[in-house]
Amino acid sequence: MAFSTFFRLFFITMLLIQYGCPVTSQLSVNFYSSSCPQALSTIKSAVTSAVSKEKRMGASLLRLHFHDCFVNGCDASVLLDDTSNFTGEKTAGPNANSLRGFDVVDTIKSNLETVCPGVVSCADILAVAARDSVVQLGGKTWTVPLGRRDSTTASLSAANSNIPSSLLNLTGLISAFSNKGFTTKEMVVLSGSHTIGMAKCSIFRSRIYNETNINTAFGTSLKNKCPSASGDNSLSPLDTTSSTVFDSAYYTNLINSKGLLHSDQQLFSGGSTDSQVKAYSANSATFFTDFGKAMVKMGNLSPLTGTSGQIRTNCRSVNSG
Ligand code: HEM
Ligand SMILES: *[C@@H]1O[C@H](CO)[C@@H](O)[C@H](O)[C@H]1NC(C)=O
Ligand SMILES: *[C@@H]1O[C@H](CO)[C@@H](O)[C@H](O)[C@H]1NC(C)=O
Ligand SMILES: *[C@@H]1O[C@H](CO)[C@@H](O)[C@H](O)[C@H]1NC(C)=O
Repeated sequence: MAFSTFFRLFFITMLLIQYGCPVTSQLSVNFYSSSCPQALSTIKSAVTSAVSKEKRMGASLLRLHFHDCFVNGCDASVLLDDTSNFTGEKTAGPNANSLRGFDVVDTIKSNLETVCPGVVSCADILAVAARDSVVQLGGKTWTVPLGRRDSTTASLSAANSNIPSSLLNLTGLISAFSNKGFTTKEMVVLSGSHTIGMAKCSIFRSRIYNETNINTAFGTSLKNKCPSASGDNSLSPLDTTSSTVFDSAYYTNLINSKGLLHSDQQLFSGGSTDSQVKAYSANSATFFTDFGKAMVKMGNLSPLTGTSGQIRTNCRSVNSG
């Protein structure tokens, strides 16, 4: 066999190994082990400090990773600020006056730029901070594959169309996640994120005043904090029993008609996902295991790798150089 033919076959084989197998990730768990051995501990210590100050911050950081990944992949596009000549995603319907945690990401990034400048991407910060937040609030850990790079672009229109609305019915929720390659079961497990964090009155008002599949006492108490024509920004916990603990109570609440969002209660409303909700309510160990796997899958949505994109110096803006 000629030398060049051997190499041609060798490279084709390597390409098949790399890209032919759908479960192969382009990310790797040891990505920073030589370039920035302190990366994971630096992120973790900043998350620990922010979440000890305010437990809700753990929820906010988890949500940032979701809103990043569902919009053209996990590329930190969600972090880019609007400028006079750049439109980012922060003013999109699901993000405006709602996403938070940007200042914590800035702190993490600036700490990382001190220990290993120009090495750790903002997209990887979001993936690790989401995991560390869940663990700090009582969830089970998972290993985060790394090596994402940061976008130089963002898409306001994709943010408006790809992030699911809480007004969706079960069919709509299933298709919003299916569009990103997720099964219905994975949609149910990722929704379990709402075991932590808060939502605004304006988001769930129509549910508490107009829907019938809601526990009466639960509805009444929500109306006190969320009047029919005022208090838009008043917050209520997504998990009414334990909103600062990452547990399976979210699912138990749904069984008791105590889902806060319309979309939450859709998962237990006499449809095809009722049995999965019951299963996670009854067995938090399977919830934790399935959640970690689904988070790794979410973190694998179209990452920029290799020489694509860049490592931003400041997560809020594209590098100027
Ligand atoms: C199933 C479809 C989903 C819908 C319709 C949805 C919608 C929402 C809405 C409307 C809020 C409240 C926003 C506000 O009031 O300002 C919220 C909060 C939250 N969402 Fe979701 N979400 C979904 C899935 C997810 C997923 C997959 C994750 C994470 C992997 C997630 C994590 C969170 C967290 C942690 C909060 C609380 C944030 C905080 O307190 O700052 N959500 N979601
Ligand atoms: C865009 O605006 C930023 C600040 O708002 C400025 O630093 C940058 O040079 C501008 N870029 C272009 C291409 O005009
Ligand atoms: C769900 O919502 C879609 C779009 O709003 C609507 O066409 C469909 O009929 C709804 N499905 C059910 C089962 O209510
Ligand atoms: C309840 O539904 C009616 C009819 O769709 C609507 O006009 C009203 O604004 C809704 N109430 C709230 C509080 O959303």
